[in-house]
Amino acid sequence: MVVSGKVVRDKVVLAYSGGLDTSVAIRWLQQNYDLDVIAVSINVGQPGNLQEAVDRALKIGAVQAYAFNATDEFVNDYIGPSLKANALYMGSYPLATAIARPLISKIMVDIAKKEGAKFIAHGCTAKGNDQVRFDVSIAALAPDIKIIAPMREWVMTREEEIEYARQNDVPITVKKECPYSIDENIWGRSCECGVLEDAMVEPPRDAFEWTVDPSEAPDEPQYVEIHFKKGLPIGLDGHKDMPMTKIIESLNEIGGRHGYGRIDHIEDRLVGIKSREIYESPAALILINAHKDLEKMVLTKDVFNFKRPVEQRYSELCYDGLWFSPLREALDAFIDQTQEFIDGTVRMKLYKGNATIVGRSSPHSLYDTGLATYAQGDHFDHHSAEGFIYVWGLPLRSVAKVQKKQ
Ligand code: ARG
Repeated sequence: MVVSGKVVRDKVVLAYSGGLDTSVAIRWLQQNYDLDVIAVSINVGQPGNLQEAVDRALKIGAVQAYAFNATDEFVNDYIGPSLKANALYMGSYPLATAIARPLISKIMVDIAKKEGAKFIAHGCTAKGNDQVRFDVSIAALAPDIKIIAPMREWVMTREEEIEYARQNDVPITVKKECPYSIDENIWGRSCECGVLEDAMVEPPRDAFEWTVDPSEAPDEPQYVEIHFKKGLPIGLDGHKDMPMTKIIESLNEIGGRHGYGRIDHIEDRLVGIKSREIYESPAALILINAHKDLEKMVLTKDVFNFKRPVEQRYSELCYDGLWFSPLREALDAFIDQTQEFIDGTVRMKLYKGNATIVGRSSPHSLYDTGLATYAQGDHFDHHSAEGFIYVWGLPLRSVAKVQKKQ
């Protein structure tokens, strides 16, 4: 397009991590799509310096570079609902990467709209879940934006990418190649590839970064009390007005120090592949287990049991890239309703790779020692038991009389 004698290119908003792939992508998008690149770096609690990423993007030739610290938004709007849902994919994975993708997509869509960009680009490959989560989230928020995934299109090995960077004037600092593919944010760290692809191989020490080997954890247990209000953590050890971000950071540290929070499992990817995944998610596992424990005390049996399959479905929606879907919103409405009375405290003991729940209390507890006790003060009506059992067992008595098999 030419506007008053000047060539005006269309714009692409690129999710920029500052690493080799997305750095090469800046130049590749300029060359192959003739686009102006707007780089966006988003912090969701992972290590790394956002300002450095911005500087590098501009140096490579991005026309604009943004940095966002979205950790609090991630915690409040994505982790909070997932925690209320006790969301664990396949019963194991707390979905750290999966629930960060819709937030990153949302921020990129906002910038694309502000900048009048017709394209959004990301650095996902063709074999993972993340491409699906980005593409579907972006489509749900801005159906007219076109998505480019350079790494899905180009066929370059790492060495070829480095060569491309050299030949095309992309300043990169080539670090020693990490033997794994890592993704991390405040809710967890994932580690895949390399020797881990042999599902029978025990993960080597260098696969872990957040947690010590349980055998090297302190010999003294540590107790931590987690306070909840309406299903969300509000503090630790008597402090009841801590920001959730701070609580998660503290629990990641405490759990990691005691060697708690490692997950090693086989996972069904959305694209049909099974993969072997290693995660470290101390805070997520502590909080989900504590939260679920409190629910057992406060929810009726019916609500607790009905919520289980809802949680499983919720986890699948998060995993499968359907965060921005009517079903997820409807399930959130149900789940929120169940959290009205989830107030109280859960006491946990961390010791050598374990986090055991050792106590809980709630002002809305349905647990009644007067009914439960086998000691003095029992107010359960023992005579009612017989009548109840007679009625409860009546259908089976009828079956035994009329349809007896032998
Ligand atoms: N298997 C996890 C998931 O699909 C983690 C993915 C990590 N992503 C990455 N690019 N290394 O959510």
